[in-house]
Amino acid sequence: MASLADLRKDYTLHGLLEHEVASCPFDQFAKWFSDAVNAKVTEPNAMTLATATVHGAPSARIVLLKSFDERGFTFFTSYEGRKAGELAENPRAALVFYWPDLERQIRIEGEVQKVSKLESEEYFLSRPLGSRIGAWASKQSSVMKGREELEARWHEIEKRFAETIVPLPETWGGYRLWPNSMEFWQGRPSRMHDRILYERNGTFWGFKRLGP
Ligand SMILES: Cc1cc2nc3c(=O)[nH]c(=O)nc-3n(C[C@H](O)[C@H](O)[C@H](O)COP(=O)(O)O)c2cc1C
Repeated sequence: MASLADLRKDYTLHGLLEHEVASCPFDQFAKWFSDAVNAKVTEPNAMTLATATVHGAPSARIVLLKSFDERGFTFFTSYEGRKAGELAENPRAALVFYWPDLERQIRIEGEVQKVSKLESEEYFLSRPLGSRIGAWASKQSSVMKGREELEARWHEIEKRFAETIVPLPETWGGYRLWPNSMEFWQGRPSRMHDRILYERNGTFWGFKRLGP
């Protein structure tokens, strides 16, 4: 096996120059996201979500981006798990997308808020039945006795809602991250990567180049 120290890749596919980037970072995100979809990247909407406690202890996990527009980036989760607890005490978070097939990374930082109950409900009711039951069955991030406990709860919920639609649980819904910065990283040969950082001042976005 090659040693870890020797594992590296030279990036040669694309560049990212000032004259090519959109003036609005949401347009730039839309372009890169559609490139990722067209390149058939595996789960292009999987992103790392980093949160932190009020004392600054960080944690990170993958969640799925479910929509984005000029209001921000939306994902859905339990309102009871670890990330929800950290967001309740410290609503600042960061997102990272990495699309190795395109040699691209996007970093997004900002403030997170719950979406409206109506928006959560609309999305929840669009999910497959099994996932809706799963959301009721899971007490996200709490310790369980074993897998049997989870499966027993799933069957209990399936029975409970056998005759009706599975409604949105009170403990589940969306969050939207409203960015104050978005950085687009394009791998280049010899570690001479392109990094374009957009920063928001009120509603105005400007961008600058960062050293790789
Ligand atoms: C590809 C992938 C997609 C995921 N999508 C979600 C998601 O959209 N929402 C979610 O709550 N957890 C999702 N998870 C699970 C989370 O990574 C995590 O295990 C869970 O949300 C509990 O995190 P927490 O304990 O920090 O709250 C996903 C995991 C993977 C690997």
